[in-house]
Amino acid sequence: MAGTAQPIGAENGVRRYQLFINGKFTDSRSGKTFESISPHDRSVVAVVAEGDKTDIDAAVSAARGAYEGVWSTTPPGERAKLLLKIADLLEANSAELGRLETLDMGMPMVMSSAMGAVSADVFRYWAGMATKIHGLTGEPMRPGDYLGYTLREPLGVVGGITPWNGPLIMAAWKTAPALACGNTVVLKPAEHTPMTSLELARLTAEAGLPEGVLNVVPGFGPTAGAALASHPGVDKIAFTGEYVTGRLIVQMSASNLKTVTLELGGKSPHIIFDDVDLEAAVATALFGLYMNSGQICSAGTRILVQEGLYDRFVERFVERSQQVKVGDPMDFATRMGPLVSEEQLGKVQRYVEIGKKEGARLRCGGGQPKDPTLARGFYHEPTVFTEVDNKMQIAQEEIFGPVASVLRFHDEDDAVRIGNDVIYGLAAGVQTKDLKRAHRLAKRLQAGTVWINTWHMIEPNSPFGGYKLSGYGRENGVAMVEHLTRLKQVWVDLNDFTMDLFA
Ligand code: NAI
Ligand code: MG
Repeated sequence: MAGTAQPIGAENGVRRYQLFINGKFTDSRSGKTFESISPHDRSVVAVVAEGDKTDIDAAVSAARGAYEGVWSTTPPGERAKLLLKIADLLEANSAELGRLETLDMGMPMVMSSAMGAVSADVFRYWAGMATKIHGLTGEPMRPGDYLGYTLREPLGVVGGITPWNGPLIMAAWKTAPALACGNTVVLKPAEHTPMTSLELARLTAEAGLPEGVLNVVPGFGPTAGAALASHPGVDKIAFTGEYVTGRLIVQMSASNLKTVTLELGGKSPHIIFDDVDLEAAVATALFGLYMNSGQICSAGTRILVQEGLYDRFVERFVERSQQVKVGDPMDFATRMGPLVSEEQLGKVQRYVEIGKKEGARLRCGGGQPKDPTLARGFYHEPTVFTEVDNKMQIAQEEIFGPVASVLRFHDEDDAVRIGNDVIYGLAAGVQTKDLKRAHRLAKRLQAGTVWINTWHMIEPNSPFGGYKLSGYGRENGVAMVEHLTRLKQVWVDLNDFTMDLFA
């Protein structure tokens, strides 16, 4: 298997990838391929087999076969060992995985080089969970000697559909928990960034994961993605992406009433009170916004600043934004790389124009960097709008780029009202030295995660997900077991006589 489980080498620096179905790398049935380009200079970095409906059919049938033939009866301890091996391989290969992530997606090396280890943590957490999944026993409510117990069973075949903004870690979130719970998986990575998901496939084969337990089919949303979401042989879809796509997934899932969990982005309020240390508050706000060029679903994009601090905050935040080192993501000194695609750059540019028209004040950025070495890439400057009203589009809609909307608030009630006045509810944050106020706000903010005096804390052992149009279900943590298993109730009659009602 090792021979077939390798991407077909790099020719002229261009890598070639095939689909990964039933433990083998294979061309798509149609023979079609697509190119993945570097967002730094638009060069082709990979030619990738393009899966569509027939390939998804093959992958689902491989996953079903592996579920019935081996994985559903593989003891949890054995599943755990395999997940630990995959984790070790992710860690051992993390330098190369980081480099590929950066080539494909533009994520700065300072971040991408950690992703192998961060993904390994996800696999280790779920390796531990595999042996702790069980049902309960219970007594009947009425008289009589009966034993009741529940069996907690895997769902079967789980489909994972991932976005491009954190390709490897998203692939880990979709696969490790599903496998730990005894399901097999078909993963459809985002078309912009297929490389590290296929590398993960290669590493799972190297770890000895049985054939068909994980299948990876790169391809486009409306073809491969839709085929997976509507497939009658798929028991569950775990999706991360835009809410408009999320709605389509839910509609398609109705064909066989498969279950769905959705993680759908946000417009998260970062609420800063006037009692904070200014430098620390600015540093946390920069971190919350500009990581991964603002392409993080839970980025702190709506910065709400209390009126007494507003002017001082804006002055320092703009100054620091102008100093952010934008550049080639391969350079470890770079803090902000390009956006993922021309389309995404166009979207950010459109929102900058909308912000100006709406009457917000553009305080810095707003265009592409002047550095000629970045001219071919999808780069955008760190951009700050102030005097933003919460009704404006730049305060309400997900831009998914390095664009801050800075708003003013009066007091605690005002902050909560503005913070919650949005269609999303993925994350929220509060910066204050007042402990009581911080916890009061944590209760009142409608968001799946609330950060107090920090940002971007997301751990394999803590639930992550949204309120409102940010989706439903949770990923990470024990709560996720509920979404990847189902309960069966068993009743046993322990009485020595048999009730004969029809005697
Ligand atoms: P998207 O939601 O369209 O894509 C996410 C995944 O869904 C990809 O794998 C894609 O191939 C798949 N997909 C697309 N259409 C599908 C369909 N009809 N059926 C099944 N699968 C489908 O997001 P896209 O187009 O890449 O980005 C658009 C916007 O979405 C971004 O500008 C950003 O605002 C937001 N977004 C949010 C993310 C998040 O983490 N919440 C991640 C990526 C994008
Ligand atoms: Mg789309």
